[in-house]
Amino acid sequence: MTNQPQETIDTLLSEERSFAPPAEFQAQANAQSAEIYTQAEQDWQGWWASWAEQLQWDKKWEQVLDWQAPYAKWFVGGKLNASVQCLDRHVQAGLGNRVAFYFEGEPGDQRTLSYAEMLEGVCQVANGLKSLGVGKGDRVTLYMPMVPELAMTVLACARIGAIFSVVFAGFSPTSLKDRIQDQSAKLVVCADGCWRRGKVLDLKSVVQQAVKECTSVEKVLLWSRGQGLRSESAPIPQEVAWEDVVGPQPTTCPPESMDAEDPLFILYTSGTTGKPKGIVHTTGGYLTGALATSKLVFDLKPETDVYWCTADIGWITGHSYIVFGPMANGVSQVMYEGAPNHPAPDRFWQLVETYRVSVFYTAPTAIRAFMKWGDEHPSKHDLSSLRLLGTVGEPINPEAWMWYQKQIGGERCPIVDTWWQTETGGIMITPLPGITATVPGSATTPFPGIETKLLREDGSEVEGAGGGYLVLTRPWPSMLRGIWGDAKRYEETYWSRFPGKYFAGDGAKRDAHGNLWILGRVDDVMNVSGHRLSTMEIESSLVAHPAVAEAAVIGIAHELKGQAPVGFVILRGGYDQTQQLAEELRQFVATEIGGLARPENIIFTPELPKTRSGKIMRRLLRDVAEGKAVGDVTTLADPTVLQGLQKEYEDKEKC
Ligand code: WT7
Repeated sequence: MTNQPQETIDTLLSEERSFAPPAEFQAQANAQSAEIYTQAEQDWQGWWASWAEQLQWDKKWEQVLDWQAPYAKWFVGGKLNASVQCLDRHVQAGLGNRVAFYFEGEPGDQRTLSYAEMLEGVCQVANGLKSLGVGKGDRVTLYMPMVPELAMTVLACARIGAIFSVVFAGFSPTSLKDRIQDQSAKLVVCADGCWRRGKVLDLKSVVQQAVKECTSVEKVLLWSRGQGLRSESAPIPQEVAWEDVVGPQPTTCPPESMDAEDPLFILYTSGTTGKPKGIVHTTGGYLTGALATSKLVFDLKPETDVYWCTADIGWITGHSYIVFGPMANGVSQVMYEGAPNHPAPDRFWQLVETYRVSVFYTAPTAIRAFMKWGDEHPSKHDLSSLRLLGTVGEPINPEAWMWYQKQIGGERCPIVDTWWQTETGGIMITPLPGITATVPGSATTPFPGIETKLLREDGSEVEGAGGGYLVLTRPWPSMLRGIWGDAKRYEETYWSRFPGKYFAGDGAKRDAHGNLWILGRVDDVMNVSGHRLSTMEIESSLVAHPAVAEAAVIGIAHELKGQAPVGFVILRGGYDQTQQLAEELRQFVATEIGGLARPENIIFTPELPKTRSGKIMRRLLRDVAEGKAVGDVTTLADPTVLQGLQKEYEDKEKC
């Protein structure tokens, strides 16, 4: 059912190490007693409403939930503004001087922004957006690095009711163009460049190429990272400068009162087809989920904590657990622009020490890299400020978990392994650090109010210990409301496999203690360094190259990335199977989609294993690529294809 070999699953499930919350942690935790699970169970709608009440509403809702499966409306009739939750209410409460962000650029430049300064900045950007003709319901695409101006622009869009869509600044011009076109964005906000591993990444030229074919884009608002990056490239025809548009604006701007169900943002993620899905999140429910989960999972103490989530705002983790959740809670955060190993592999730990970070949230792929770089890097630094650690994005192998606990957490910090998705908007399965006994490698149990089930192929429920398809059986406030411009795809992708239940696309197992173990995707989606990529997307990219007749892509196990794409390629006549062409194809995919999608390997083959009905058997390709004994081949049209492939792959491995 999953990509994981049976032995790995068995070892995972024989995990008997378990860590109860340390007594001191429990005594101060925001959630201390398992009773909240019972309460939330008895009245889950009431539970969520109690969190919504902690937001500042312009008008209270009339109904908590209107559920016409699979369409949910939360806090019906309520009105609020998302930026007010993150800024105005803290400033009004006299907390304007609290630090919102400690920003550090890769070259070492530092800026500290208080909540009051963020509010002023957001209002200026909001006024600037209005001056460019952007208003409620308009779409704005953001293509920016990790700088405070990105968070400001997100909140400025929210302030005026424009629907923002952040595109991770590692995506290619084509990927950016596709997203701008899909949402008919009126405005693109971008930066000229950013720093990564000591080099300047030229973001402006990516935008320049992308907007050439985007007729909807009226203006491109360009923020300069500084250091004279701007002067190097020619202007984009629609370009206007941040300092001209935003600079002169007043520092107040009345927030637009939005309906709880008005869209807040669109965020694209890969599905099983070649075309990414624009996941739509709305205002009231999304914020309720972000507020509640941040407060309980990260145990946020806004007066004293310094929280650092190392994700990029271009992914859902950054939306929910940098911008909206932590800011709605009013906590101080660290934001870092660059690479974890620049100028040296201890950069993160140096930042933890400098800013006295207390809550740290990162991804397994990063933890594996830290392990590989060596214990001496964290050991050099005083990490005693840390009190809680988190992980997200992919299953964490127990050894990496144990390393994280020891080398980073000093065996004193609980670890929250949080399972969720772009679509769920917020954390769904996770320990609560003052309550749950954690187990290395397990995301443990659903967040209060969330109900999960494991289902068999036929839809029957797996009760007790056992494995199955992971589904969510109730609506939750921060759930996606649909796919931008494609209602049918929403119903088909998430709600048709098991009618009336949300199918996440993951397989999972429940152990004898009731803890859940996420086993990975069960569809043609792979998880590369915690990011989702579809095999189809990479295949379409490969076949767009003139040399390629046919391609099949699979995700293979990778030591650092979790999974990595490998492409099996049939060439057109007249092209030779050279190392140089393989390299060109890898680069071609990176240019077409983004560096993340670059195949680890390209295997040339005269044939692909197919079923009699012509479907490529990716499972077999995976076995070949992972050097495993090949599974059941009885449905294969031509079994000899595989032997050829295996040889091809082994030869490739040797050289
Ligand atoms: C997929 C969602 C949620 C933000 C980052 C990724 C995998 C996520 C875990 C975890 C095991 C995990 C799942 C999920 N995943 N967190 N703690 N343990 N797997 O967001 O790109 O929407 O991907 O990431 O496969 O379906 P995304």
